[in-house]
Amino acid sequence: MLLEIKDLIIRTFDEKKVIINKISFSVKEGSIHAIIGPNGSGKSTLAYSIMGLETYKTSGGKIFFDGVDITEKNITDRAKLGITLAWQEPARIEGLSIPKYISLGIKDKTNLKEKIVEALSIVNLEPEKYFNRTINESLSGGERKRIELAAAIAMRPRLIILDEPDSGLDVIISEDFLNIFNRVKELKMTILLITHKEEIGMVADYGTLMWYGDALITDDFPNVMLQYCKKAGLKEFCKRALFKNGKRCFSEDYIDQIFCEDEEL
Ligand SMILES: Nc1ncnc2c1ncn2[C@@H]1O[C@H](COP(=O)(O)OP(=O)(O)O)[C@@H](O)[C@H]1O
Ligand SMILES: [Mg+2]
Repeated sequence: MLLEIKDLIIRTFDEKKVIINKISFSVKEGSIHAIIGPNGSGKSTLAYSIMGLETYKTSGGKIFFDGVDITEKNITDRAKLGITLAWQEPARIEGLSIPKYISLGIKDKTNLKEKIVEALSIVNLEPEKYFNRTINESLSGGERKRIELAAAIAMRPRLIILDEPDSGLDVIISEDFLNIFNRVKELKMTILLITHKEEIGMVADYGTLMWYGDALITDDFPNVMLQYCKKAGLKEFCKRALFKNGKRCFSEDYIDQIFCEDEEL
């Protein structure tokens, strides 16, 4: 396992409120692992805690990265080990040229231009169109997100945490995400994909369902999605949307049966 979360408890910095309530799950190396759950269920808090941002306090449990206990490590050490977080609210990178921004995280600067071109093409942007541009309001929301992702990919981290990469966008569709993420996988990176948009999660291999501070289930993604739909009362959506590679994940009868069962997770 690349990432292991064991009995993790996160409180707000003043310790008054528990945001993450003793959760455990693991992320397999080379997989796309989605964290799904409604707004306010603790997904961003989890992302920031794995990255090691100081805003939240770990009040119990442990985080292991490739077998190393990183619970007490700071953000810089975690980044050195190969963890990268793409921000939900893009950092203030306004005014930088696009190639400069992408090059910031590239350690080995040999063949720099080729590396930037490669990163841009992975996120489906035509490199020559973006080389002379600057990060400013002339970029669309979708372009910004892709450039942000290109910068994360260019660093070649072992784990990329994407917090709502689709937020505020309707232009990136899940098929495009699938292409991008499959290329990232080919480069042997693992993706922790945080989203509350069900259809984006369908590109994931595995998933964990967060529900107001608890991690209810970790399993193959369609199973996680099925349980999410059940908890959220989304039966029709479930029948309509749970397809993978063009095939239905569960029969309608099976979905009916799952929705009839009373027991809670
Ligand atoms: N610094 C904070 N102080 C108090 N409550 C917080 C703080 N940060 C997050 N929360 C609360 O914790 C819960 C989880 O938030 P968050 O991790 O942003 O959820 P998600 O990303 O799933 O929408 C929310 O109820 C949020 O209001
Ligand atoms: Mg969030």
